[in-house]
Amino acid sequence: MGRFSPKTLDLDGKVILVTGGTGSFGRRFIETVLRRSDPRKVIVYSRDELKQSDMQLELREQFDEATYGKLRFFLGDVRDRERLTLALRGVDIVIHAAALKQVPAAEYNPSECIHTNVLGAENVVWASLNNHVKQVVALSTDKACNPINLYGATKLASDKTFVAANNLSGDIGTRFAVVRYGNVVGSRGSVVPLYKRLLAQGATELPVTDARMTRFWITLNQGVEFVLSSLEIMRGGEIFVPKIPSMTMPDLVKAMSPAAGVKIVGIRPGEKLHEMMISADDARATVELEDRYVIEPTFVEYPRTPFRGEAGTKDVAEGFSYSSDSNDDWLSEDGLNAMLAEKA
Ligand SMILES: NC(=O)c1ccc[n+]([C@@H]2O[C@H](COP(=O)([O-])OP(=O)(O)OC[C@H]3O[C@@H](n4cnc5c(N)ncnc54)[C@H](OP(=O)(O)O)[C@@H]3O)[C@@H](O)[C@H]2O)c1
Repeated sequence: MGRFSPKTLDLDGKVILVTGGTGSFGRRFIETVLRRSDPRKVIVYSRDELKQSDMQLELREQFDEATYGKLRFFLGDVRDRERLTLALRGVDIVIHAAALKQVPAAEYNPSECIHTNVLGAENVVWASLNNHVKQVVALSTDKACNPINLYGATKLASDKTFVAANNLSGDIGTRFAVVRYGNVVGSRGSVVPLYKRLLAQGATELPVTDARMTRFWITLNQGVEFVLSSLEIMRGGEIFVPKIPSMTMPDLVKAMSPAAGVKIVGIRPGEKLHEMMISADDARATVELEDRYVIEPTFVEYPRTPFRGEAGTKDVAEGFSYSSDSNDDWLSEDGLNAMLAEKA
């Protein structure tokens, strides 16, 4: 259990569907839930049959027969509203993790990214409302805040779709919230596995696009705990942002290999020098809790008690923004190595 872990969340008897359940996040989320609680059913919803059958093989080894028997593997695309609607029958909780997330691929294939990330989000909302799902948590990214690339822009559109969906649920009462965080150490396609691979191949220099670049860092387990605790405290319409440390890219290289040099290769299209999770404009709607910030919804036409003003919360300062360069929490080499030591 870590600092973002839920306190009293009870998933026993619940039916949970995870879109993108075979991805880095989805898989760790499902393993955690199966280990910790006794849900009635956990449904994986994703497209690729090979990833699903690999996951089946591996989870069959990890869990006893009764626990493994709670899993269902549903092939389907979030772009396919009918299929998603079928998959969501009888579901209590949806965790929406399916996405296209490679920045260069999204720049080159914008409509593919829009179809999955934006229309997919709309389909999740639609299918959840039609199946009277109780709670939906959608994963977002720091790239959705003041986006400069198509990936970030689609995730911002997705965030807005989920926040606004609370106004559509009427008597059904489905509640939607968003979780937004930064780079996940070691997730598929990220820089840490790339550096590990290059070091294993004997590289003496690691590529960094700009020496000034900073990023927010979180582990996969922390991401899973943060989603679980956000599910526990959500009221509908929030964007939950964890308090996590930053590191410069050259410091990341040094922590991973003190002997390796840094090769500056130039900033890539669609890349920012620093990432932001809460802009100064969003800060007006933001309250601070001990371990996270909550951006509260501003168009609320459904019953909801705001966090603002409650014990244990405080307003953020005028002009506040939460950015990876102005963060007051910086990751040390030891801190990064502890994160890297976590099971990938
Ligand atoms: N990794 C990070 O550093 C990071 C940071 C912040 C936020 N996030 C967010 O966290 C979420 C999960 O990321 P991740 O790292 O777990 O990604 P991932 O490892 O790439 O997994 C993506 C999952 O989505 C599925 N998927 C993709 N397109 C789909 C579609 N059209 N319909 C149904 N399923 C689809 C994939 O399976 P198939 O290909 O088989 O369909 C896979 O299961 C994403 O929303 C991402 O934006 C990630």
